[in-house]
Amino acid sequence: AAATRYEAERAPATCDGAIDTNHAGYSGTGFCNGRNAVGAAVQFTVDAPQAGTATLVVRFANGTTAARPASVTVNGSAAASASFESTGTWAAWTTKTLTVPVRAGSNTVRLSPTTADGLPNIDCLDA
Ligand code: GCU
Repeated sequence: AAATRYEAERAPATCDGAIDTNHAGYSGTGFCNGRNAVGAAVQFTVDAPQAGTATLVVRFANGTTAARPASVTVNGSAAASASFESTGTWAAWTTKTLTVPVRAGSNTVRLSPTTADGLPNIDCLDA
């Protein structure tokens, strides 16, 4: 099936930080600029047609030179980790693909930074 796009700035997604628009190239109406702190997460609610394995494509930008690692939980359980490497500039958006277990129906997908630098800017998630 075609992917569904979940925007970080659109409820029921939540952003522990600000919804910003100052770096071009985002989809929708903005992106999540999370607080630069451990645990300052962005959360998506992702629908799955059936239980199994889902491919999540996270669109992000990291204008620093250092990766911004994050843990990925699905429905509260650790599911993956992501490094979110530098993309060069804050207007250079790229994607990171994650493979995670899901249940049928609604799933809570949480990207939580593991260092004080916080998350990269998070635009959206396709699943
Ligand atoms: C800059 C940039 C923000 C980014 C932040 C960060 O302030 O403009 O978009 O979120 O750096 O380091 O996280």
